[in-house]
Amino acid sequence: MSAEILIELENAVESRRNFAIISHPDAGKTTLTEKLLLYGGAIHEAGSVKARRAQRKATSDWMEMEQQRGISITSTVLQFSYDDFQINLLDTPGHQDFSEDTYRTLAAADNAVMLIDAAKGLEPQTRKLFEVCQMRSLPIFTFINKLDRPGREALELLDEIEQELGMKTYAVNWPVGMGDRFQGVFDRVKKQIHLFERRAHGSKTAQDTVIDLGDSRIEEFLDQELYYQLKEELEILDEIAEDFDLEQIHAGKMTPVFFGSAMTNFGVELFLKSFLDYALKPEGRNSSEGEIEPTYPEFTGFVFKLQANMDPKHRDRVAFVRVCTGKFEKDMTVKHARTGKTVRLSRPQKLFAQGRESLDVAYPGDVIGLNNPGVFAIGDTIYNGKKIEYEGIPCFSPEIFSYLKNPNPSKFKQFQKGITELQEEGAVQIMYSADEFKREPILAAVGQLQFEVVQFRLKNEYNVETNLEPLPYSVARWIGGGWEALEKAGRIFNTMTVKDSWNRPVLLIKNQWNVAQIVGDYPDLNLKSTAPVG
Ligand code: G4P
Repeated sequence: MSAEILIELENAVESRRNFAIISHPDAGKTTLTEKLLLYGGAIHEAGSVKARRAQRKATSDWMEMEQQRGISITSTVLQFSYDDFQINLLDTPGHQDFSEDTYRTLAAADNAVMLIDAAKGLEPQTRKLFEVCQMRSLPIFTFINKLDRPGREALELLDEIEQELGMKTYAVNWPVGMGDRFQGVFDRVKKQIHLFERRAHGSKTAQDTVIDLGDSRIEEFLDQELYYQLKEELEILDEIAEDFDLEQIHAGKMTPVFFGSAMTNFGVELFLKSFLDYALKPEGRNSSEGEIEPTYPEFTGFVFKLQANMDPKHRDRVAFVRVCTGKFEKDMTVKHARTGKTVRLSRPQKLFAQGRESLDVAYPGDVIGLNNPGVFAIGDTIYNGKKIEYEGIPCFSPEIFSYLKNPNPSKFKQFQKGITELQEEGAVQIMYSADEFKREPILAAVGQLQFEVVQFRLKNEYNVETNLEPLPYSVARWIGGGWEALEKAGRIFNTMTVKDSWNRPVLLIKNQWNVAQIVGDYPDLNLKSTAPVG
């Protein structure tokens, strides 16, 4: 491997930053995404992401559901540049019923941005996704949004993050006023106030006036009451706040906090700049061969998501691959770790929202879309050079369960094919009762809409009508102690024993309260909330 390639790789890694946004629906993820793209020059007028989505809704066929319900089920990757950085924003579905997809996308992300509505504080979906980030020790950057509307006190919001999520906070900037009187943010690092001008829906990048805190003209710009309030809050903050600690930030133990308003563009660019200063670049990853650095010269990557029929013109499946090491080149041949087969990666795609541009090269931290029907499953590693297998992407606990019935025996084959393919694709988890006589598959999902998508697709793509028969459980726990421990435990009330797709025992449990009880009563079961794939 030549020195030139090594330098090329080092430069590519240095300039790449990759992240996903975690938030509760309505916190402003689409709006923030749009504004980030605006600053990155990837779009010229805010509104185009939404417009693109609307356009896509009109063209997607199997996802008529998206159109009917106005929800976004699919997720893609948005690549843009800012300063000298290449930024990959791993987009995730807006609807919480599809959060399994978000969990898997987080496995491909190096950083997370936690977006919070200032009036609502932490919400359930944010908490759940936060836990997934913590499992991977991802650095988390907090953006507290909608400061242009009346919201909760900034100090109170920081306190909530610290108390509820057990993560230290460091406010990198601080709001000047709030609601109607929100005028800008104070940059605590540079000790400067950024005052913004309001524009209708912030469709263009914001004008910002910067003044030092000690500047004598400050009263010309800022009303006195706000100025004194700001000074007072900053004094309190200086007294109680922890010191900025980049190591803790990178370990996911401290979160840099930013305040702003995505809609009016207040604080978005400041956030982007600081994010790029502090975010983790692509790092080494655990594998069967130990930690592999991104500058390892051979190409390696893993599949974190499969998506069927994104484009109605090609009824295909796209495998989303996170590039981990080396340089990806169009038409290259790689090894597929699970099957040992050699695969030619033809028709690679760069993914921008729903547009598909063909792609010639990609570097660590990038995501590519591959069009190899039937070859890939979620978690698969592809590599060149010595055999490497990355840690798989775990299965997460589903929250709703239902028997899936095929009332028409003549459709048995299509039914089996459909559920096998949808399971491989990760559209839903499939389990079976441990009772040999109950042969019907159990669909296990995070949200009801996931069931609807499965039924819709079985009907449209496999021509099978199905019925659901819901089961009264809300938690799944894999049994670390295995079948033996389960047998020893005997009958456990309010549960049902099932097998997952790899024949591992899983306990379906009524509610969280029962889980706590079972953990206390049967420690040998060694209940686990996630399990490796395969
Ligand atoms: P999501 O993707 O997280 O679900 O949220 P999205 O960006 O769609 O935003 C949800 C709503 O919150 C939108 O209003 C959006 O305009 C609004 N919003 C986002 N950021 C801000 C902000 O900084 N300040 C205020 N005041 N509102 C914000 P909507 O009425 O549902 O849609 P629209 O008619 O504005 O497009």
